Amino acid sequence: MYKIAVLPGDGIGQEIVPEAVKVLQACGEKFGLAFEFREALVGGAAIDATGHPLPEETLNLCRESDAVLLGAIGGPKWDNLPVHLRPEAGALLPLRKKLGLYANLRPAVLYEALIDASPLRQEIVEGINILVIRELTGGLYFGEKKREKIPGGEKATDTLTYTTQEIERIGRLAFEAARKRRKVLHSVDKANVLESSRLWRETMTRLQEEYPDVELIHMYVDNAAMQLVRWPRQFDVIVTENMFGDILTDQASMLTGSIGMLASASIGGKVALYEPAHGSAPDIAGQKKANPLATILSAALMLRYSFNHEEAAAAIEKAVVRVLEKGYRTPDIMQPGCRLVNTEEMGERVVEELLAL
Ligand SMILES: NC(=O)c1ccc[n+]([C@@H]2O[C@H](COP(=O)([O-])OP(=O)(O)OC[C@H]3O[C@@H](n4cnc5c(N)ncnc54)[C@H](O)[C@@H]3O)[C@@H](O)[C@H]2O)c1
Repeated sequence: MYKIAVLPGDGIGQEIVPEAVKVLQACGEKFGLAFEFREALVGGAAIDATGHPLPEETLNLCRESDAVLLGAIGGPKWDNLPVHLRPEAGALLPLRKKLGLYANLRPAVLYEALIDASPLRQEIVEGINILVIRELTGGLYFGEKKREKIPGGEKATDTLTYTTQEIERIGRLAFEAARKRRKVLHSVDKANVLESSRLWRETMTRLQEEYPDVELIHMYVDNAAMQLVRWPRQFDVIVTENMFGDILTDQASMLTGSIGMLASASIGGKVALYEPAHGSAPDIAGQKKANPLATILSAALMLRYSFNHEEAAAAIEKAVVRVLEKGYRTPDIMQPGCRLVNTEEMGERVVEELLAL
């Protein structure tokens, strides 16, 4: 019996998570897996109900579970609260830190059926299969923050810090991942300006001695942003620090046609967390327009990384390919001649294809 903590969160999180649960239940039926789903509040929904974005009860449930499935949190309604009580700073970051989730894995894979949905020319994006590994519990997002009065106004400071130990653990994970793939690892930093990036680069270079079979390429982050558009196929595994990874993965998501396609796994602690790379999309929330595939593909990553069930994980991914080949599309990936479906219908199509495999 696998215990899964289910945190739908806010906005479209409430619409997409039930579709991923449906698909996991169908997987249970097909592969004889037993799941216990227990839901808890997080983000704005938790603030409204309890006054705090990450209630102790939710954190305890995550710690007691075998994996966590998160939708998305945040929205304009809570943007003016004191920073520590907002969904992002008050729930998402502490949850990652308290569960020790220092590595965020975001596969950017272009599905053949979506090649025309990508904003880039076919010959540029054809066949891309990139794994971005983003450090998730260090750097600027977790550094000291200061606000002080100075003559003429104020001064705000965010501190960017990385330690050898933080870089080594994410570095080794990235080398291991590249070793299982095409053995090319791009380490993205800003070593020509930042001291923390110089330590990052020195540490990655030293680690490579342990992985002589993996090619290590250092790249400045501004160049990486350009290369992701110019020639994305050169990338196999990319490893980078927290903020650079946050930005580059949103960019990488568009190579695949929509941010609604990008799944993610956050690992490093006893319990891993799986969530789509996108946010709560307040602009389309409540309209059944949200694409649930990123969340469904995150559930596949859960079966692979947390439950070691490669067959079930691959079956979900295959069902998603089948649904796309049959022309079903949510508005974000809609193309001429395709069949427009809403969030629920997309979930049902995936279940149908999965059970038919
Ligand atoms: N992990 C998280 O929970 C997370 C991540 C990023 C942003 N956020 C929060 O989400 C809120 C909105 O942020 P944002 O607008 O910058 O980013 P967003 O990812 O929510 O939305 C960006 C754009 O992509 C579209 N989009 C996103 N997911 C989609 C899906 N599944 N299907 C179809 N279209 C989709 C949205 O409609 C919007 O136009 C903010 O409060 C932000 O802090 C949360």
